[in-house]
Amino acid sequence: MPNTNRQLRLQNRPKGLLAPGDLQLVESPVPELKDGQALAKVKYLSIDPTMRAWMVADTYLPAVPIGEVMRSLGFAEIVESRHAEYKKGDRITGLTGLQDYVVLDGSGKGLFQRVPKIPFVSDTVFLGVLGVTGLTAFFGMEIAAPKKGETLVVSAAAGATGSIAGQIGKIHGCRVVGIAGTDDKCSWMTKDLGFDAAINYKHPDWKEKLTAATPNGIDIDFENVGGEIMREILNRMNLHGCVVLCGLISGYTKGDPGLASFGTVLVKRLRVQGFIILDYASRFMEAATQLGQWKMFGKLKDRETIMEGLEKAPDAINMLFTGGNTGKLIVKL
Ligand SMILES: NC(=O)c1ccc[n+]([C@@H]2O[C@H](COP(=O)([O-])OP(=O)(O)OC[C@H]3O[C@@H](n4cnc5c(N)ncnc54)[C@H](OP(=O)(O)O)[C@@H]3O)[C@@H](O)[C@H]2O)c1
Repeated sequence: MPNTNRQLRLQNRPKGLLAPGDLQLVESPVPELKDGQALAKVKYLSIDPTMRAWMVADTYLPAVPIGEVMRSLGFAEIVESRHAEYKKGDRITGLTGLQDYVVLDGSGKGLFQRVPKIPFVSDTVFLGVLGVTGLTAFFGMEIAAPKKGETLVVSAAAGATGSIAGQIGKIHGCRVVGIAGTDDKCSWMTKDLGFDAAINYKHPDWKEKLTAATPNGIDIDFENVGGEIMREILNRMNLHGCVVLCGLISGYTKGDPGLASFGTVLVKRLRVQGFIILDYASRFMEAATQLGQWKMFGKLKDRETIMEGLEKAPDAINMLFTGGNTGKLIVKL
Protein backbone atom coordinates (compact mmCIF):
# COMPACT_ATOMS: atom_id res chain seq x y z
CA MET A 1 0.00 0.00 0.00
CA PRO A 2 1.12 3.60 -0.58
CA ASN A 3 2.33 5.41 2.50
CA THR A 4 2.37 9.03 1.34
CA ASN A 5 -0.66 11.17 0.71
CA ARG A 6 0.01 14.47 -1.08
CA GLN A 7 -2.51 17.10 -0.07
CA LEU A 8 -3.20 20.73 -0.95
CA ARG A 9 -4.03 22.50 2.27
CA LEU A 10 -5.52 25.97 2.58
CA GLN A 11 -2.81 28.27 3.92
CA ASN A 12 -4.23 31.77 3.26
CA ARG A 13 -7.64 33.10 2.33
CA PRO A 14 -6.99 34.44 -1.19
CA LYS A 15 -7.56 37.99 -2.22
CA GLY A 16 -8.33 38.16 -5.94
CA LEU A 17 -6.96 35.21 -7.86
CA LEU A 18 -5.09 32.52 -5.88
CA ALA A 19 -1.50 33.52 -5.17
CA PRO A 20 1.38 31.04 -4.84
CA GLY A 21 1.24 29.55 -1.36
CA ASP A 22 -2.50 30.11 -0.76
CA LEU A 23 -2.76 26.36 -1.22
CA GLN A 24 0.28 24.53 0.15
CA LEU A 25 1.37 21.10 -1.07
CA VAL A 26 2.19 18.85 1.91
CA GLU A 27 2.91 15.16 2.30
CA SER A 28 1.26 13.25 5.11
CA PRO A 29 1.06 9.54 5.89
CA VAL A 30 -1.80 7.54 4.38
CA PRO A 31 -3.93 6.72 7.46
CA GLU A 32 -4.12 3.14 8.78
CA LEU A 33 -7.64 1.89 8.09
CA LYS A 34 -9.87 1.06 11.04
CA ASP A 35 -12.84 -1.30 10.89
CA GLY A 36 -15.69 0.43 9.03
CA GLN A 37 -13.38 2.49 6.79
CA ALA A 38 -12.24 2.27 3.17
CA LEU A 39 -9.36 3.94 1.36
CA ALA A 40 -9.89 5.44 -2.11
CA LYS A 41 -7.30 6.67 -4.61
CA VAL A 42 -8.42 9.95 -6.13
CA LYS A 43 -8.17 9.85 -9.92
CA TYR A 44 -9.82 13.08 -11.06
CA LEU A 45 -10.57 16.35 -9.31
CA SER A 46 -13.50 18.55 -10.26
CA ILE A 47 -12.45 22.20 -10.39
CA ASP A 48 -15.39 24.44 -9.57
CA PRO A 49 -15.84 28.22 -9.08
CA THR A 50 -17.48 27.60 -5.71
CA MET A 51 -14.09 26.43 -4.36
CA ARG A 52 -12.94 30.06 -4.46
CA ALA A 53 -15.94 30.97 -2.27
CA TRP A 54 -15.26 28.06 0.12
CA MET A 55 -11.74 29.45 0.64
CA VAL A 56 -12.85 32.82 1.93
CA ALA A 57 -16.21 32.78 3.70
CA ASP A 58 -19.10 30.77 5.09
CA THR A 59 -21.64 30.39 2.29
CA TYR A 60 -24.05 27.47 1.84
CA LEU A 61 -21.19 25.39 3.35
CA PRO A 62 -18.77 26.59 6.02
CA ALA A 63 -15.48 28.10 4.83
CA VAL A 64 -12.60 25.61 4.72
CA PRO A 65 -10.57 26.11 7.94
CA ILE A 66 -6.99 27.33 7.51
CA GLY A 67 -4.61 24.35 7.54
CA GLU A 68 -7.25 21.87 6.30
CA VAL A 69 -7.21 19.92 3.04
CA MET A 70 -8.97 22.05 0.42
CA ARG A 71 -12.52 20.85 -0.18
CA SER A 72 -13.33 19.65 -3.71
CA LEU A 73 -15.37 17.11 -5.56
CA GLY A 74 -13.55 14.22 -7.16
CA PHE A 75 -13.72 10.76 -8.67
CA ALA A 76 -11.89 7.96 -6.81
CA GLU A 77 -11.47 4.18 -6.74
CA ILE A 78 -11.44 2.05 -3.60
CA VAL A 79 -8.00 0.46 -3.14
CA GLU A 80 -8.48 -1.12 0.29
CA SER A 81 -11.58 -1.73 2.38
CA ARG A 82 -12.54 -2.66 5.90
CA HIS A 83 -16.07 -1.40 5.28
CA ALA A 84 -18.89 -3.86 4.59
CA GLU A 85 -20.40 -1.74 1.79
CA TYR A 86 -17.25 -0.91 -0.18
CA LYS A 87 -15.02 -3.35 -1.99
CA LYS A 88 -11.73 -2.91 -3.82
CA GLY A 89 -12.33 -1.53 -7.30
CA ASP A 90 -15.59 0.29 -6.42
CA ARG A 91 -15.74 3.70 -8.04
CA ILE A 92 -17.13 6.72 -6.26
CA THR A 93 -17.67 10.45 -6.58
CA GLY A 94 -17.98 12.92 -3.72
CA LEU A 95 -16.04 15.43 -1.64
CA THR A 96 -12.62 13.83 -1.97
CA GLY A 97 -10.65 17.04 -1.33
CA LEU A 98 -7.50 18.07 -3.18
CA GLN A 99 -5.40 15.03 -2.26
CA ASP A 100 -4.21 11.66 -3.55
CA TYR A 101 -6.13 9.46 -1.09
CA VAL A 102 -9.34 9.85 0.89
CA VAL A 103 -10.73 7.73 3.73
CA LEU A 104 -14.45 6.89 3.64
CA ASP A 105 -16.28 5.79 6.74
CA GLY A 106 -19.73 5.28 5.20
CA SER A 107 -21.24 7.92 7.51
CA GLY A 108 -22.56 10.02 4.62
CA LYS A 109 -19.89 12.64 5.32
CA GLY A 110 -18.39 13.61 1.96
CA LEU A 111 -21.60 12.81 0.06
CA PHE A 112 -19.98 9.78 -1.60
CA GLN A 113 -21.94 7.96 -4.28
CA ARG A 114 -21.02 4.79 -6.10
CA VAL A 115 -20.87 5.20 -9.90
CA PRO A 116 -20.98 2.46 -12.56
CA LYS A 117 -18.40 1.56 -15.18
CA ILE A 118 -20.04 2.27 -18.53
CA PRO A 119 -18.38 0.79 -21.63
CA PHE A 120 -16.96 3.46 -24.00
CA VAL A 121 -17.77 6.27 -21.53
CA SER A 122 -14.94 8.10 -19.77
CA ASP A 123 -14.93 8.25 -15.96
CA THR A 124 -14.78 12.03 -16.11
CA VAL A 125 -18.43 12.29 -17.23
CA PHE A 126 -19.33 11.69 -13.58
CA LEU A 127 -17.79 15.08 -12.74
CA GLY A 128 -19.16 16.85 -15.84
CA VAL A 129 -22.26 16.15 -17.87
CA LEU A 130 -23.46 13.39 -15.45
CA GLY A 131 -21.94 15.14 -12.42
CA VAL A 132 -22.63 18.30 -10.50
CA THR A 133 -22.36 20.73 -13.41
CA GLY A 134 -24.68 18.69 -15.67
CA LEU A 135 -27.12 18.32 -12.78
CA THR A 136 -26.94 22.06 -12.11
CA ALA A 137 -27.81 22.78 -15.74
CA PHE A 138 -30.67 20.25 -15.55
CA PHE A 139 -32.31 21.62 -12.40
CA GLY A 140 -31.66 25.25 -13.40
CA MET A 141 -33.48 24.62 -16.66
CA GLU A 142 -36.29 22.90 -14.74
CA ILE A 143 -36.73 26.15 -12.78
CA ALA A 144 -36.78 28.06 -16.10
CA ALA A 145 -39.58 25.80 -17.40
CA PRO A 146 -38.81 26.73 -21.03
CA LYS A 147 -41.49 26.71 -23.71
CA LYS A 148 -40.99 26.12 -27.42
CA GLY A 149 -40.09 29.32 -29.27
CA GLU A 150 -38.89 31.21 -26.19
CA THR A 151 -35.51 32.96 -26.27
CA LEU A 152 -32.97 31.71 -23.74
CA VAL A 153 -29.70 33.54 -23.09
CA VAL A 154 -26.92 31.72 -21.22
CA SER A 155 -23.82 33.47 -19.82
CA ALA A 156 -20.50 31.60 -19.36
CA ALA A 157 -22.16 29.50 -22.04
CA ALA A 158 -19.08 27.53 -23.15
CA GLY A 159 -18.40 26.41 -19.58
CA ALA A 160 -19.39 23.15 -17.91
CA THR A 161 -22.81 24.28 -16.71
CA GLY A 162 -23.67 26.81 -19.41
CA SER A 163 -22.91 24.52 -22.36
CA ILE A 164 -25.33 21.88 -21.01
CA ALA A 165 -28.01 24.43 -20.01
CA GLY A 166 -28.02 25.88 -23.53
CA GLN A 167 -28.34 22.45 -25.13
CA ILE A 168 -31.24 21.58 -22.81
CA GLY A 169 -32.84 24.82 -24.05
CA LYS A 170 -32.46 23.54 -27.63
CA ILE A 171 -34.03 20.19 -26.65
CA HIS A 172 -37.05 22.21 -25.42
CA GLY A 173 -37.27 24.13 -28.71
CA CYS A 174 -35.90 27.49 -27.52
CA ARG A 175 -33.92 30.02 -29.50
CA VAL A 176 -30.60 29.82 -27.62
CA VAL A 177 -28.00 32.56 -27.48
CA GLY A 178 -24.74 31.94 -25.64
CA ILE A 179 -22.30 34.53 -24.28
CA ALA A 180 -18.63 33.64 -23.83
CA GLY A 181 -15.17 35.16 -23.87
CA THR A 182 -13.46 33.84 -27.05
CA ASP A 183 -14.34 33.41 -30.72
CA ASP A 184 -13.37 29.72 -30.52
CA LYS A 185 -15.86 29.15 -27.72
CA CYS A 186 -18.52 30.98 -29.75
CA SER A 187 -17.90 28.88 -32.85
CA TRP A 188 -18.07 25.66 -30.73
CA MET A 189 -21.49 26.76 -29.50
CA THR A 190 -22.95 27.53 -32.92
CA LYS A 191 -21.20 24.83 -35.00
CA ASP A 192 -21.20 21.87 -32.59
CA LEU A 193 -23.77 22.55 -29.89
CA GLY A 194 -26.52 23.91 -32.14
CA PHE A 195 -26.92 27.30 -30.45
CA ASP A 196 -28.67 29.85 -32.68
CA ALA A 197 -26.15 32.59 -31.92
CA ALA A 198 -23.09 33.13 -29.75
CA ILE A 199 -21.58 36.43 -28.67
CA ASN A 200 -18.04 37.17 -27.54
CA TYR A 201 -18.47 39.68 -24.71
CA LYS A 202 -14.86 40.83 -25.17
CA HIS A 203 -15.71 42.40 -28.56
CA PRO A 204 -16.54 46.11 -28.20
CA ASP A 205 -19.86 45.77 -30.06
CA TRP A 206 -21.14 42.79 -28.05
CA LYS A 207 -24.16 44.67 -26.71
CA GLU A 208 -25.37 45.51 -30.24
CA LYS A 209 -24.79 41.86 -31.19
CA LEU A 210 -26.89 40.73 -28.23
CA THR A 211 -29.70 43.02 -29.39
CA ALA A 212 -29.45 41.67 -32.94
CA ALA A 213 -29.40 38.05 -31.71
CA THR A 214 -32.54 38.51 -29.60
CA PRO A 215 -35.03 40.21 -31.97
CA ASN A 216 -37.99 39.06 -29.85
CA GLY A 217 -36.38 40.02 -26.53
CA ILE A 218 -35.28 37.48 -23.91
CA ASP A 219 -37.64 35.19 -22.01
CA ILE A 220 -35.11 33.26 -19.90
CA ASP A 221 -31.75 34.31 -18.52
CA PHE A 222 -29.63 31.37 -17.29
CA GLU A 223 -27.28 33.55 -15.31
CA ASN A 224 -23.78 32.34 -14.49
CA VAL A 225 -21.86 35.61 -14.49
CA GLY A 226 -23.65 38.66 -13.05
CA GLY A 227 -22.35 42.24 -13.26
CA GLU A 228 -22.38 44.06 -16.59
CA ILE A 229 -23.34 40.99 -18.62
CA MET A 230 -26.37 40.35 -16.43
CA ARG A 231 -27.37 44.04 -16.52
CA GLU A 232 -27.36 43.97 -20.31
CA ILE A 233 -29.38 40.75 -20.45
CA LEU A 234 -31.97 42.10 -18.00
CA ASN A 235 -32.36 45.21 -20.13
CA ARG A 236 -33.48 42.96 -23.00
CA MET A 237 -35.77 40.73 -20.93
CA ASN A 238 -39.47 40.54 -21.83
CA LEU A 239 -42.12 41.33 -19.23
CA HIS A 240 -42.62 38.42 -16.78
CA GLY A 241 -39.42 36.74 -17.98
CA CYS A 242 -37.49 34.31 -15.79
CA VAL A 243 -33.98 34.74 -14.40
CA VAL A 244 -32.39 31.51 -13.14
CA LEU A 245 -29.65 32.73 -10.82
CA CYS A 246 -27.12 29.94 -11.03
CA GLY A 247 -23.88 31.87 -10.38
CA LEU A 248 -22.27 35.31 -10.32
CA ILE A 249 -18.71 34.41 -11.24
CA SER A 250 -17.69 37.94 -12.26
CA GLY A 251 -17.80 38.93 -8.59
CA TYR A 252 -16.12 35.93 -6.91
CA THR A 253 -12.54 37.22 -7.02
CA LYS A 254 -13.53 40.84 -6.48
CA GLY A 255 -15.60 40.65 -3.32
CA ASP A 256 -18.40 42.23 -5.36
CA PRO A 257 -21.80 40.53 -5.33
CA GLY A 258 -22.05 41.01 -9.11
CA LEU A 259 -25.79 41.66 -8.96
CA ALA A 260 -27.70 43.58 -11.58
CA SER A 261 -30.33 46.24 -11.01
CA PHE A 262 -33.40 45.32 -8.97
CA GLY A 263 -35.11 48.30 -10.66
CA THR A 264 -35.19 46.29 -13.90
CA VAL A 265 -36.51 43.25 -12.05
CA LEU A 266 -39.34 45.40 -10.70
CA VAL A 267 -40.24 47.23 -13.90
CA LYS A 268 -40.16 44.06 -16.02
CA ARG A 269 -41.96 41.98 -13.32
CA LEU A 270 -39.26 39.31 -13.62
CA ARG A 271 -39.30 36.01 -11.76
CA VAL A 272 -35.80 35.59 -10.28
CA GLN A 273 -34.88 32.33 -8.60
CA GLY A 274 -31.55 31.40 -7.14
CA PHE A 275 -30.78 27.75 -6.38
CA ILE A 276 -28.04 25.56 -4.94
CA ILE A 277 -27.63 22.13 -6.49
CA LEU A 278 -27.24 20.36 -3.12
CA ASP A 279 -30.95 20.96 -2.48
CA TYR A 280 -31.76 18.54 -5.31
CA ALA A 281 -29.65 15.62 -4.04
CA SER A 282 -32.64 13.29 -3.66
CA ARG A 283 -33.34 13.66 -7.43
CA PHE A 284 -29.78 13.28 -8.76
CA MET A 285 -30.39 9.78 -10.10
CA GLU A 286 -33.52 10.82 -12.00
CA ALA A 287 -31.67 13.78 -13.58
CA ALA A 288 -28.52 11.79 -14.40
CA THR A 289 -30.68 9.16 -16.13
CA GLN A 290 -32.24 11.81 -18.35
CA LEU A 291 -28.88 13.51 -19.04
CA GLY A 292 -27.35 10.11 -19.87
CA GLN A 293 -30.13 9.35 -22.35
CA TRP A 294 -29.72 12.71 -24.05
CA LYS A 295 -25.96 12.15 -24.25
CA MET A 296 -26.40 8.63 -25.62
CA PHE A 297 -28.73 9.86 -28.37
CA GLY A 298 -26.37 12.69 -29.34
CA LYS A 299 -28.60 15.47 -28.02
CA LEU A 300 -25.96 16.61 -25.50
CA LYS A 301 -22.33 17.14 -26.42
CA ASP A 302 -19.70 17.88 -23.84
CA ARG A 303 -16.08 18.96 -23.72
CA GLU A 304 -13.50 18.73 -21.00
CA THR A 305 -10.36 20.71 -20.27
CA ILE A 306 -8.00 18.37 -18.39
CA MET A 307 -4.84 19.42 -16.55
CA GLU A 308 -2.44 16.86 -15.11
CA GLY A 309 -1.02 16.74 -11.59
CA LEU A 310 -2.26 17.71 -8.13
CA GLU A 311 0.21 20.61 -8.06
CA LYS A 312 -1.66 22.15 -11.04
CA ALA A 313 -4.92 22.50 -9.09
CA PRO A 314 -4.29 26.11 -7.93
CA ASP A 315 -3.60 27.23 -11.53
CA ALA A 316 -6.66 25.32 -12.65
CA ILE A 317 -8.87 27.13 -10.13
CA ASN A 318 -7.57 30.45 -11.46
CA MET A 319 -8.34 29.35 -15.04
CA LEU A 320 -12.04 29.43 -14.24
CA PHE A 321 -11.76 33.17 -13.64
CA THR A 322 -9.59 33.92 -16.66
CA GLY A 323 -11.64 31.79 -19.06
CA GLY A 324 -8.93 29.20 -19.84
CA ASN A 325 -11.37 26.27 -19.86
CA THR A 326 -13.92 25.11 -22.38
CA GLY A 327 -16.48 22.74 -20.89
CA LYS A 328 -15.73 20.91 -17.65
CA LEU A 329 -12.40 21.67 -15.99
CA ILE A 330 -10.74 18.62 -14.42
CA VAL A 331 -7.37 17.84 -12.87
CA LYS A 332 -6.15 14.29 -13.50
CA LEU A 333 -4.00 12.77 -10.75
N1 LIG B 1 -26.06 27.20 -8.11
C1 LIG B 1 -25.33 26.10 -8.07
O1 LIG B 1 -25.61 25.14 -7.35
C2 LIG B 1 -24.12 26.02 -8.97
C3 LIG B 1 -23.47 24.79 -9.19
C4 LIG B 1 -22.37 24.77 -10.09
C5 LIG B 1 -21.95 25.95 -10.70
N2 LIG B 1 -22.61 27.11 -10.40
C6 LIG B 1 -22.21 28.38 -11.03
O2 LIG B 1 -22.27 28.23 -12.43
C7 LIG B 1 -21.32 29.09 -13.03
C8 LIG B 1 -20.47 28.27 -13.99
O3 LIG B 1 -19.76 27.28 -13.24
P1 LIG B 1 -18.97 26.10 -13.98
O4 LIG B 1 -18.49 25.18 -12.93
O5 LIG B 1 -19.82 25.56 -15.07
O6 LIG B 1 -17.70 26.87 -14.57
P2 LIG B 1 -17.34 27.11 -16.10
O7 LIG B 1 -18.48 27.85 -16.72
O8 LIG B 1 -16.90 25.84 -16.70
O9 LIG B 1 -16.07 28.06 -15.98
C9 LIG B 1 -16.22 29.40 -15.64
C10 LIG B 1 -16.30 30.29 -16.90
O10 LIG B 1 -16.83 31.55 -16.51
C11 LIG B 1 -16.39 32.53 -17.42
N3 LIG B 1 -16.03 33.74 -16.66
C12 LIG B 1 -15.16 33.82 -15.63
N4 LIG B 1 -15.08 35.10 -15.18
C13 LIG B 1 -15.92 35.83 -15.97
C14 LIG B 1 -16.27 37.22 -16.01
N5 LIG B 1 -15.73 38.12 -15.15
N6 LIG B 1 -17.15 37.62 -16.95
C15 LIG B 1 -17.68 36.72 -17.83
N7 LIG B 1 -17.40 35.41 -17.84
C16 LIG B 1 -16.53 34.97 -16.91
C17 LIG B 1 -15.15 31.97 -18.14
O11 LIG B 1 -15.45 31.76 -19.52
P3 LIG B 1 -15.36 32.94 -20.62
O12 LIG B 1 -14.18 32.61 -21.50
O13 LIG B 1 -16.66 32.83 -21.31
O14 LIG B 1 -15.14 34.24 -19.89
C18 LIG B 1 -14.93 30.61 -17.48
O15 LIG B 1 -14.49 29.63 -18.37
C19 LIG B 1 -20.52 29.74 -11.91
O16 LIG B 1 -21.08 31.01 -11.63
C20 LIG B 1 -20.77 28.81 -10.74
O17 LIG B 1 -20.64 29.45 -9.50
C21 LIG B 1 -23.67 27.16 -9.57
